[in-house]
Amino acid sequence: MNSSPHPTPSGSVRTTGQQLRRRSWAEPWKIKMVEPIKVTTPQQREAALSAAGYNTFLLRSEDVYIDLLTDSGTSAMSDWQWAGLMLGDEAYAGSKNYYHLEEAVRRHYGYKHLIPTHQGRGAEHILSQIMIRPGDTVPGNMYFTTTRYHQEHAGAQFVDVIIDEAHDPASPHAFKGDVDLAKLERVLKSAKRVPYVCLAATVNMAGGQPVSMRNARAVKELCARHGVPVMMDATRAVENAWFIKCREPGYSEKSCAQILLEFCSYTDGCTMSGKKDALVNIGGWLSLNDDALADKARNLVVVYEGLHTYGGMAGRDMEAMARGIEESVQDDHMRARVGQVEYLGGLLQASGVPVVVPIGGHAVYLDARRFYPGMPQDNFPAQTLAAELYLDGGVRAMERGVVSAGRDKATGRHHYPKLELVRLTIPRRVYTQAHMDVVAESVVAVYENPSKPKGLRMVYEPEYLRFFQARFELL
Ligand code: F0G
Repeated sequence: MNSSPHPTPSGSVRTTGQQLRRRSWAEPWKIKMVEPIKVTTPQQREAALSAAGYNTFLLRSEDVYIDLLTDSGTSAMSDWQWAGLMLGDEAYAGSKNYYHLEEAVRRHYGYKHLIPTHQGRGAEHILSQIMIRPGDTVPGNMYFTTTRYHQEHAGAQFVDVIIDEAHDPASPHAFKGDVDLAKLERVLKSAKRVPYVCLAATVNMAGGQPVSMRNARAVKELCARHGVPVMMDATRAVENAWFIKCREPGYSEKSCAQILLEFCSYTDGCTMSGKKDALVNIGGWLSLNDDALADKARNLVVVYEGLHTYGGMAGRDMEAMARGIEESVQDDHMRARVGQVEYLGGLLQASGVPVVVPIGGHAVYLDARRFYPGMPQDNFPAQTLAAELYLDGGVRAMERGVVSAGRDKATGRHHYPKLELVRLTIPRRVYTQAHMDVVAESVVAVYENPSKPKGLRMVYEPEYLRFFQARFELL
């Protein structure tokens, strides 16, 4: 028997002896269908990565063994969701699946109006266009790439108002997604106009870190005093609810579903990428409580997405998402979902690998600066680490550092974020504990490898959201 320490789902380490006495939990599902994946040779991986310009976004998925690029649209659907696909009502207007989706969103998120979109950025686009005027300021708890792009595209300036701890990968703060109320108040008082505050739960770029209920309530109160609405990025709000249940006093006896509803009640609407929490491969929505704003959004959605009762989705996609929402708010699902992420995080912590703590809801984030001490940010440490990981074992991860941060619109210089991270993102219900063991072993091998690379040079840089398509060469 293996005598090495194993982390528990909550991240603490136990020994084999203790393991015999503990009672394990397992996923609340069994596997009905499998999809083969391919182990490649080091030579094949070198060729594939070089052809992809050292950008993991440009690899063919066929050449990837364990794909932790993203949790977006990569979930495994349940048999109930697949059955729902067969019940797609593909009418152009008024599909019954739209009404099922509206019902599910109202029941679990509580908002009045539902405007479906093809995915999250479709909703961000519509929201930004109907609310932002040139010269506005949009405060938010750290930026997200597409969200900030649409805010800036509509003429706003984004201002980060997250607490300082969020920028420190080693800070153990339980709610690193929280808004710094003093920073927010300064912006509300000094900006010419603030059309809304953007509250993301959880915060992807901070490492999948949650916002506390207390903070959401306080943000709402502060914004209400200034007459400014709060718009949530609800992409991973159910994971956020799970963390509130586990960490915030007074919530351990509440269900994830109850917590989610309360959280949403402190916001005036949301943009949503259904490709994450809602367990589907495509889909999203915009929710609003205000009738006049919802009319504006319905007006615009027909220009960019599709009629307001499908917004770019097929009827079957809406049915799968309605069912996915129901499944996503179940406590058993969330325990296994976040538990698996914490399992991988715990393995890495037990081996001394520098990761962002606390372990996030959808991913484990490697601190690339501590993998390559002394490597300048201009040599793209996180991009380099993602490349090395793929070369070692065929695991695909994503850069979340200077490449993702892009350039300052005004000065043309790189944004230099404090966090230079590589994200190991866990798709929902897709990989097993054995896959997580293989990933951890590969990360440890890269971390302990004494020969360190010098970094990368960017040889092609797209104008927008450059991380998706940029190309690099080895230094
Ligand atoms: N907001 C957050 C917090 C996200 O993580 C994403 C997507 C979006 C909005 C945009 O949603 O992709 O449906 O248009 N995040 C993916 C990721 C791409 O890998 O983190 P979308």
